Amino acid sequence: MLGPPGVGKGTQAEILAQRTGLAHVSSGDLFRENLRDKTELGEIAKGYMDKGELVPDDVTISMIRERLTRPDCVSGAILDGFPRTTAQAEALDLLLRDFDSRIDLVPYITADETTLVERISGRWTCRAEGHIYHEKFNPPKRAGVCDTDGSVLFQREDDRAETVARRIEVYTEQTAPLVEYYRLQGRVVEIDGERPLEEVTDALLASLKNV
Ligand code: AP5
Ligand code: MG
Repeated sequence: MLGPPGVGKGTQAEILAQRTGLAHVSSGDLFRENLRDKTELGEIAKGYMDKGELVPDDVTISMIRERLTRPDCVSGAILDGFPRTTAQAEALDLLLRDFDSRIDLVPYITADETTLVERISGRWTCRAEGHIYHEKFNPPKRAGVCDTDGSVLFQREDDRAETVARRIEVYTEQTAPLVEYYRLQGRVVEIDGERPLEEVTDALLASLKNV
């Protein structure tokens, strides 16, 4: 899944994973799990994430390589937040060749910057498993508590206004060029992410039918 910060990649990947049985592999979630568990990888990632910068490619690629070898990825996975640089995309191509696998589809979700900022500023995330809510657009049944696992909801450190602005800049500079990278491979389906959540899900499910 390609698209700017706050466009709805994580939200939609979670729903699609439930509907399709594919694994949901989110690089951001993996870094946040490592932060929460205070691992060495979490320590490394924190310095970059707090500033809205990307974690170095070598660290990110080896984390994803390990994740993709876990049993739940055997029938396929939805990648959310990875790849994010050309070097990561090239590394993924090599990795998938090793796994005798391939990328079937690259849904590219779009929205205006004002929409992104509005979505990010109202987002609440579940501590246990990263389930995603929005105080206005997708509120939990009980404020501050995850519907799925009852854990506490928190606001991400990197969702502060100045960090969000930098994340959007970094996206434009380093990740947006991947749309062209995958367009040349004929894999991109553009999805209008301005629409309500359920409509975006329907569009994604429709695009998956062609795979
Ligand atoms: P990451 O966690 O991937 O953050 P991101 O890409 O900035 O994207 P977000 O998670 O903010 O947005 P999203 O598109 O998932 O939107 P969501 O579904 O939550 O990365 C964080 C950091 O980790 C990076 O800055 C970097 O430091 C590091 N990192 C991660 N991957 C890396 C990599 N590959 N290489 C290097 N560094 C890496 O939705 C947002 C809100 O909107 C929610 O509240 C949701 O409820 C709401 N919403 C969703 N859809 C709709 C809708 N259609 N209508 C109304 N509201 C909606
Ligand atoms: Mg996300």
